[in-house]
Amino acid sequence: MNNSVPVIAIDGPSGSGKGTIARGLARKLGWHLLDSGALYRLVALVAGERSLPLDDTNRLAEAAATMDIEFSAASGSEQILLAGRDVTSQLRTEEIGATASIVAALPGVREALLERQRSFARRPGLIADGRDMGSVVFPQATLKVFLTASPEERARRRHNQLKEKGIDVSLPALSREIAKRDERDANRKVAPLRTAEGARILDTTGMTPTEVVEQVLTWLSEAA
Ligand code: C5P
Repeated sequence: MNNSVPVIAIDGPSGSGKGTIARGLARKLGWHLLDSGALYRLVALVAGERSLPLDDTNRLAEAAATMDIEFSAASGSEQILLAGRDVTSQLRTEEIGATASIVAALPGVREALLERQRSFARRPGLIADGRDMGSVVFPQATLKVFLTASPEERARRRHNQLKEKGIDVSLPALSREIAKRDERDANRKVAPLRTAEGARILDTTGMTPTEVVEQVLTWLSEAA
């Protein structure tokens, strides 16, 4: 890992606003972005396409290590390419999210993605969002932030995000799915969702994205 590149690690449960805040910060600061959840979602997608059993650690870890992926913002909007194919919208479904959280519990898969994630740290800086950015992937991060929000607000945000993408799911079903995923993410043996040591905790319930971004920027200037 290149310790001289500044990193802001943003962790938190599903729907806590990590992605929106990370993108807002990356835009404001002109830094690079790592959506680490997308990597686990990509492994889930590849597993489905190749019919890999979700407990076959070796083949899943190999897929994680070798999958040909590219994050591109060339056309103005973010695109995630798998072997040159645009899979951005396929990755966002709750089904892929749920499978991602199953493969993410396998140590071999996490290990295979570790260096891939670290290679995103490039000048002038990186905003990394996920579950273990501050605790495992970037323990030396300049600033570690842990975002939370009430379960109702997190379900509502996810619901709106999915609706904007034309995906229709019932709010109660989504709440149950999020609760299940959080429980699995918080209780797995490797890199469970935890507040990293030294992390600033922010409950974003009732806050606008702009307010959250401003708060993180204030913390960054204090940390610098
Ligand atoms: O953040 P997102 O909802 O895209 O993440 C999908 C799943 O990937 C999470 O539920 C979690 O199980 C896993 N994940 C992880 N570690 C990360 C990012 C995501 O285990 N750093």
